[in-house]
Amino acid sequence: MKIAVIGAGYVGLVTGTCFAEIGNDVICVDNDPKKLAVLKKGEVPIYEPGLDELIKKNVRAKRLQFSSSIKTALKGADALFICVNTPPKKDGGADLSYVENVAQEIAENLSDYCLIVEKSTVPVQTGERVYDTIKKNHKKGCPFDVASNPEFLREGSAVQDFLKPDRIVIGVSSARAEKILRKIYAPLKAKMVVTDIKSAELIKHASNSFLATKISFINNVARVCDAVGADIEQVAKGMGLDPRIGPSFLSAGIGFGGFCFPKDLAAFLHMANSVGQDFSLLQSVLDINDTQKDFYLQRIEKVLWNLRGKTLGVLGLAFKGNTDDMRFAPSIEIIKHLQKEGVKIQAYDPAAMVRAKEVLKGITYTTNPYDVCKKADALLILTDWDDFKDLNWEKIKKLLIQPIIFDGRNLYDPKKMKKLGFDYYSIGRAT
Ligand code: UDX
Ligand code: UDX
Repeated sequence: MKIAVIGAGYVGLVTGTCFAEIGNDVICVDNDPKKLAVLKKGEVPIYEPGLDELIKKNVRAKRLQFSSSIKTALKGADALFICVNTPPKKDGGADLSYVENVAQEIAENLSDYCLIVEKSTVPVQTGERVYDTIKKNHKKGCPFDVASNPEFLREGSAVQDFLKPDRIVIGVSSARAEKILRKIYAPLKAKMVVTDIKSAELIKHASNSFLATKISFINNVARVCDAVGADIEQVAKGMGLDPRIGPSFLSAGIGFGGFCFPKDLAAFLHMANSVGQDFSLLQSVLDINDTQKDFYLQRIEKVLWNLRGKTLGVLGLAFKGNTDDMRFAPSIEIIKHLQKEGVKIQAYDPAAMVRAKEVLKGITYTTNPYDVCKKADALLILTDWDDFKDLNWEKIKKLLIQPIIFDGRNLYDPKKMKKLGFDYYSIGRAT
């Protein structure tokens, strides 16, 4: 099949590359000239494990190309996937102006049947707006369909998530659209869920909101554990063995970040309110997520007493491990708060420092995890990178002024850390 992918970001680039990998001819379009220049040079503008090799392989095989032109990509395309970003507006709603612009450009250039697929996360009923926009501005009057095919790609394991999906959701309004999407995804031999367009749009918002609810739930339980001296890991294990609950997304920490959960929850809440439905549960999930950072910061202030003039080492800046993405990373608010209190920050992240420098100023960035500890009053762990799991603790103890660790991701065994001589504080676990 011939496929156009509009928007070569975290979602579009993985999607386009993987479509090429399973045998399609793909053109990825992006309107950012800098990003396009990087891609055309054979480099990858984001950190995503496994993506680099797949891009190179499929470019070499001439199944994957990059372009700035929607018109070029549309020529002969069986399907076009919209993967532009849908950032949050001030009121929490999704800014769909990029989606609208793309729909307008499609309308101006469509000269043969094409299936237009929403891949970006959009509020329910966006499919109808995309259809109307194309219909209204369409010059040549050829037939087209609109479908919804939400992505469930986790950054850091997006390539694997694409190639080995739990399910593929397609929301369609015609047999032709269903046939095209089934054909594209056939090589993956995955479970297909075929719905109407609005239900598919809702599956995405509801799934992300539910996962985020699990995280806020366990974080709130962790605070209770902390207050009574129980252990959140044991509680989560005991809960998760019940198949009705399941073990995943029950890791307590400093809250969820990234470009999906915070904005998708806000957009879903906004959307529900706009159709007269109260969904204050989602507001609570967002509130718990915000105050989880305060919970972490309060512990630091309680242990270190005055913060002014102190130096803290920070390991991890990205919103989670295995990515360079800093969007809505909990580290941003935590570090900015500490800086406001007069703390000097020394930080290290294996992949996110280039992006971190754009949002976090006045920090000493180091080139390895040990230098952040030099003459620091304590060490903070803010991202669950595997690289941090096995560190030289004797060395770290010597570098720190005081052997104090505030682990925001529960990466280490409290008993082991105590034995090594650290004052070790984590989330919801007795030390
Ligand atoms: C995506 C989705 O689209 C979003 O809805 C979902 O919830 C999270 O993932 P993401 O891929 O993370 O967004 O965004 P980003 O990395 O910013 O990529 C979007 C790309 O689209 C950028 O490269 C941008 O340059 C491009 N773009 C944007 C266009 O090509 N045209 C536009 O009009 C707007
Ligand atoms: C998410 C969805 O999981 C994915 O299906 C897609 O819709 C895009 O959005 P992503 O944001 O890349 O993926 O990462 P995810 O692994 O879901 O983690 C999101 C945030 O939750 C991270 O900040 C992570 O650290 C946090 N998290 C996750 C926890 O705090 N505890 C957990 O148990 C799991």
